[in-house]
Amino acid sequence: MITARLEGYTPTDPGVAEAARLLREGGVVAIPTETVYGLAADAFNEGAIRRVFEAKGRPQDNPLIVHISDMAQLPDLVTEIPDTAKRLAAAYWPGPLTMVLPRSERLPACVSAGLDTVAIRMPSHPVARAVIEQSGCPLAAPSANRSGRPSPTTARHVLDDLDGRIDAVLMSEDCDVGVESTVILLAGGAKRLLRPGGVTREMLEAVIGPVELDKAVLSAEVTAKVSSPGMKYKHYAPVTRTVLLVGDTPAYIDYVNRSENSCVAVCFAEDAPELTCPCLVYGSGANEATLAHGLFAALRQVDDLGVDVAYVHAPSLSGVGLAVYNRLLRAAAFDVMTL
Ligand code: TXA
Ligand code: MG
Repeated sequence: MITARLEGYTPTDPGVAEAARLLREGGVVAIPTETVYGLAADAFNEGAIRRVFEAKGRPQDNPLIVHISDMAQLPDLVTEIPDTAKRLAAAYWPGPLTMVLPRSERLPACVSAGLDTVAIRMPSHPVARAVIEQSGCPLAAPSANRSGRPSPTTARHVLDDLDGRIDAVLMSEDCDVGVESTVILLAGGAKRLLRPGGVTREMLEAVIGPVELDKAVLSAEVTAKVSSPGMKYKHYAPVTRTVLLVGDTPAYIDYVNRSENSCVAVCFAEDAPELTCPCLVYGSGANEATLAHGLFAALRQVDDLGVDVAYVHAPSLSGVGLAVYNRLLRAAAFDVMTL
């Protein structure tokens, strides 16, 4: 079986209408969003949700995000909309922000892996929004990668992982942000950042005041009841041994050039001219947004080089750099060295 490839660069392309039809009929379709490609299914169709878990090889205890295009869809999905959620929605929706809220009984429990909360996001990508509107259903959509692999930022990445396992992929431009959405827990009066992303901690705090950073964001620490199950798995990981190096450009170049391993440098544009090994430039160290944009495509190329180790230059933790660092910690299975 070959996955259908639908062209959908603008909301009025026939591919978008075809994707919406497949979704209405219980299909699973990969769609572009401004963060990464998602593997979508009707959030109210249990059979379709099960197919999403199967296609990805996703552990059953890892809940999905439900995508909406209009605030009017919220009351069917959640039992309460806290004031913090209203304020964040007004500021950052549509956009790369996911809010975890108390789940409505109407929504199948499998969407949330049995949790009493549900994660909701309103994407800003015009094609994603058109698919939600035309299908007429909220769409449950995890990232469209095989579980454990880097998230897909191009339609090609989706096909590399899922061709033959899903009904269709909506071919569109490469994703803009490049890392997955920010996830914040707001249920039960909490204000806890579970996964950093395009809407930064600074941006959240500007609207709702101090936001707690979940322990799992920057460490391997896993609490008995994990608040964001997706953060406990080794993730985004090349098969090649991957080490995260923290330091400035001279220290990074010095360390990598002196290494006796056959290696690839997953590095900043500023590092590349002086490096003696093959380089995968993932952005500029001076601009975290470029690093987020290029991260997953670079990680996906590491294994093609047949080297012993990948040395990744760690970004600063400011702005979207925190999200990039969070993904790299897991790609390196927490093998971090400060130079
Ligand atoms: O940008 C994104 O968020 C992309 C696009 C497609 O929208 N989606 C995405 O989904 O990254 P996924 O399934 O790969 O990641 C969802 C994350 C996981 O870490 C999961 O554990 C967490 O959100 N999550 C979902 N529901 C949750 C809940 N009820 N409580 C806590 N964490 C939740
Ligand atoms: Mg994912």
